[in-house]
Amino acid sequence: MKRIGMLTSGGDCQALNAAMRGVAKTLFNAKEDVEIYGFLDGYRGLIYGKFRMLTTADFSGILTKGGTILGSSRTPFKLMRDPDENGLNKVEAMKQNYYKLQLDCLVILGGNGTHKTANLLKDEGLNVITLPKTIDNDLWGTDMTFGFQSAVDIATDAIDKIHTTAASHGRVFIVEVMGHKVGFLTLNAGIAGGADIILLPEIPYDIDKIVDAIKLRHDRGSRFTILAVAEGAISKEDAKLSKKEYKKKLENSIYPSVSYEIAARIEKKSGMEVRVTVPGHTQRGGGPCPYDRVFASRLGSEAGKLILKGEYGFMVGYKNREIVKVPLEDVAGKLKMVDPKSSIVKEAKLLGISFGD
Ligand code: F6P
Repeated sequence: MKRIGMLTSGGDCQALNAAMRGVAKTLFNAKEDVEIYGFLDGYRGLIYGKFRMLTTADFSGILTKGGTILGSSRTPFKLMRDPDENGLNKVEAMKQNYYKLQLDCLVILGGNGTHKTANLLKDEGLNVITLPKTIDNDLWGTDMTFGFQSAVDIATDAIDKIHTTAASHGRVFIVEVMGHKVGFLTLNAGIAGGADIILLPEIPYDIDKIVDAIKLRHDRGSRFTILAVAEGAISKEDAKLSKKEYKKKLENSIYPSVSYEIAARIEKKSGMEVRVTVPGHTQRGGGPCPYDRVFASRLGSEAGKLILKGEYGFMVGYKNREIVKVPLEDVAGKLKMVDPKSSIVKEAKLLGISFGD
């Protein structure tokens, strides 16, 4: 008999349900008896003992369903060791709930913060297997996270739709793409959507270079320019500030996001009309694309296989087109970022895309 706990933590993304279904189907199809307990709203469910037993019916029909059937929440890692408002020791509470249910393993689906806590639980002696989710694709130890490809499709669609109106009006348009502090989503959606300028957190921009690129297009007869701007894009000047100084600058900014500041600066320097579109959380919304359904199902089934073998303490990831297991301690606390010298960036530049650098 295996008793498994499952939870989804952090910002949601597409294919969380597909991944859980992959784990569950693999376990239910095995000869061994299996009980699966779903903790509700991320680590909060594990801390406060909010869970329900999941049967095969819970996993039926969810391959294509967006969001997470378990709910999710952000429980910051840096506060995990602090007692809650009632003095509860969160880490001890999680351990007690794990032991009370006599679990053999926790399956945790999450991104960067989630992995830090998963590793902490592993260090505290719990058996843990994790699955890499996030539209940002910024998890170290895996070439790909599920949710990413679906978000690329949505962000690309936003850029595609902006193309027609930008062309009609001869305007400069900025499409702001999610991704937190990394640019994988913007880079891929930008190339796929035919953006003329792509601004990434990893490649600080020079506003004059951006204006030059827009003017060059104009001089060559293009009536419009589209910029795909990562929500974490940063100027060369701001990149010189300390983390604290930059945070303060953002807090005091009159602009709702970096794109609006960039738009204002372009308008001032070029006299051109600039519009900003922010698809925001739509990028995490809706069902997973077919790629993510397959990918998450594969990761889920490999996680199920590890559980059946009793191999714990790993994230199931993807390296060089193979599903791999990566020790949790290697993943926790590391960020994967776009390498400005990577071939995809070089190829994009060969296509004539400006990175404002
Ligand atoms: O990590 C996923 C993500 O969607 C990031 O791209 C974005 O910066 C962040 O979450 C938004 O967080 P929230 O949903 O808490 O606003």
